[in-house]
Amino acid sequence: MSEQSKDYKARAQELVSRMTLEEKALLLSGNGPWTTHKIERLGIPSIFMTDGPHGLRKALGQSVAESVPATCFPTASALASTWNTDLIRQVGAALARECQAHDVQILLGPGINMKRSPLGGRNFEYFSEDPVLAGQLAAAYIQGAQGEGVGTSLKHFAVNNQEFERMVSSSNLDERTLREIYLPAFEIAVTQAQPWSVMCAYNKVNGVYASENHLLLEDILRDEWGFQGFVVSDWGAVHDRAKGVMAGLNLEMPGSGDVNRKKIIAAVNAGQLPVSRLDDVVTSLLSVILKAAESRRTGARFDVEQHHALARQVAGEGIILLKNDDNILPLDAGRKKKLALIGAFAKDPRYQGAGSSQVNPTRISNAYDELLAIMGGSERFGYASGYDAEGVTTAQLIEEAREQARNADVAIIFAGLPDSHESEGFDRSSLDIPEGHHRLIDAVSQVQPNTVVVLMNGSAITMPWVGRVKAILEGWLTGQAGGGAIADILTGRVNPSAKLAETFPLRVEDTPTSTEFPGLNQQAHYGEGVFIGYRYYDKKNITPLFPFGFGLSYTTFAYSELTLSAASIKDTERLTVQLKVRNEGKVAGKEIVQLYVREDKPAVSRPDKELKAFTKVALEPGEEKTVSFTLNSRDFAYYNAALHRWSVNPGRFDILVGGSSRSLPLRKHVLVETAQVPVPVLTRHSTVKEFKNHPKGKAFYSRLASVIMGEAPGEQSTVKRSPQEEKARKKAEMSTLVFVNDMPAYKLIAFSQGKFTEQMLNDILAQVQ
Ligand code: BGC
Repeated sequence: MSEQSKDYKARAQELVSRMTLEEKALLLSGNGPWTTHKIERLGIPSIFMTDGPHGLRKALGQSVAESVPATCFPTASALASTWNTDLIRQVGAALARECQAHDVQILLGPGINMKRSPLGGRNFEYFSEDPVLAGQLAAAYIQGAQGEGVGTSLKHFAVNNQEFERMVSSSNLDERTLREIYLPAFEIAVTQAQPWSVMCAYNKVNGVYASENHLLLEDILRDEWGFQGFVVSDWGAVHDRAKGVMAGLNLEMPGSGDVNRKKIIAAVNAGQLPVSRLDDVVTSLLSVILKAAESRRTGARFDVEQHHALARQVAGEGIILLKNDDNILPLDAGRKKKLALIGAFAKDPRYQGAGSSQVNPTRISNAYDELLAIMGGSERFGYASGYDAEGVTTAQLIEEAREQARNADVAIIFAGLPDSHESEGFDRSSLDIPEGHHRLIDAVSQVQPNTVVVLMNGSAITMPWVGRVKAILEGWLTGQAGGGAIADILTGRVNPSAKLAETFPLRVEDTPTSTEFPGLNQQAHYGEGVFIGYRYYDKKNITPLFPFGFGLSYTTFAYSELTLSAASIKDTERLTVQLKVRNEGKVAGKEIVQLYVREDKPAVSRPDKELKAFTKVALEPGEEKTVSFTLNSRDFAYYNAALHRWSVNPGRFDILVGGSSRSLPLRKHVLVETAQVPVPVLTRHSTVKEFKNHPKGKAFYSRLASVIMGEAPGEQSTVKRSPQEEKARKKAEMSTLVFVNDMPAYKLIAFSQGKFTEQMLNDILAQVQ
């Protein structure tokens, strides 16, 4: 803890000691939709918080329908595709400058829930299906924003992965899945960047509302991870207010008037809520209020042009080149080709999602105008709208599009998801883009072999036409400057350098949650366990449409010289991994180097490999750089649910490095030794096989196994047998052993008909403890 935060805490404690019960209860519930209460008597200021995450949405009046003009950056799917922590830090800082200019103290974001299903309605607002990638990007975003004196609210904690019944549904999952998949992104962001606030989710986790979940809010968030800020409810996520206070929920938003305030007071008066507990919860909220109020930069302004330019740069780094046959891209501006721009999105782009994150942009660029501005010569540009706002096409619209395509050298079709297909508040019912967009792509690609598709959508989609077009750009929801960014990529002014932060499956039936998502009757069962995203497709050997980590460039990169700092390490030691990456082409580019770890013989069913580190490297043509990563024990560990902690299973681990989860040319292994091998406790219910695999139990294995062969324990048969009889005996022994290995030890007493006694078993158990 810094000196300064200690100071805020001390000041908050002193103020709390002077507050009445009513004032404490008042502070714990908002004053309207966006602010905390001011308590003038004590000089406690009010602070303002608002959405987030990819732009400032500060309502102009009481309604959120109108908000201040703010830079609309690309949404989280696009931000994550940059895999560029430095750039995301800059975005965080820019967002915070806009907050300062509008006197906002806390920005409600980033959103980092895992993309459990590609159908998740808010996937466009979340980073990834991988916790390490989401966590590191979130940490950078938070550091960027908070460095400018504006707090963040990391959301939605936790296991909030669907919109269906989002206020009541229970996300039911096992402890290991919670720890390995749904918590680590939060853990990384909290431990590395200390957000001033964490927003608890609407849903329940294993039957307990996130807003009343002591395990999440207190035991894990504060005690284990050392969170210093306050927990705010998602807007309307409070149920039993006193339970929430007991569990560690500080602030209720929006305010509920005196409804919940009275409940807090009543609970204290009834002796159900200790004052000391109430004081703790008020103190951590007040510490941040004091810090936030003092971090205000009165009169701050932001540079609209500069932020628009940053939004364009980020969008350019987030656009993924998924296909580029015959190097049709970049378009050669000098060769004066005729272009047919097809699809209404070319002029009227879909650049952000709907719901609480909707920003009123300072301006909007579209690809049509921007291409024209870069390439010049309006006579070379044809245009056809192709579909209406809902994505519906007609024979006439198709004919117009074909006509334009026939008369051009290259057709560029803009397609994707209209607003009505993807929003906060509901999940998608299909992975498909509208039928009208599919038909348009089919029709145009029939008459124009040089067809390029530019996509605008917030989450994974299917592409039945993938083989019929030459190039595909996944533009995502590119933010207000997306038009310029698309033009930059199409013309080669920017070399694509983004990669998928989520898998694109071939069909919805292939997805890990296809039989479960989104649940029913307020219950969502996470039956797929730790196997979401690439962890699932790898394990099931399913070929996706485009794998996690994939993305092309206008140049190519070569990987070489993987070295590990040691051939074997103790799990208390670090491993340094080095390699070289070289730009083999003629243009400068950036490569995202990804490191995955695979355990050779895991103790539990583990993913085939997991992302543990990544970096983005800029390389001039012909340039080579050395990349270095450091791994620690957590990078090899799994969550041992029996012991309720992370464990490293000693043995061999493969280190895999490359440019996509399905293209990892560099591979070496390391042996990891553990000082403390977790030893299971043997009981009368342990199987005979478990005795065999136990460091102390193995000494008794042959004795236990022989019981079932009809021999007294320890007795050796002296019967003389012919070779044939001996062979038959061996065979019988083998199948009996298979049988006995899975038998609980106490069963041997009955099976041996008393030769093996209760006393003998107790003696063995006493010796193996
Ligand atoms: C959303 C949050 C948002 C809040 C305030 C809720 O409905 O789930 O993400 O920050 O509203 O707008």
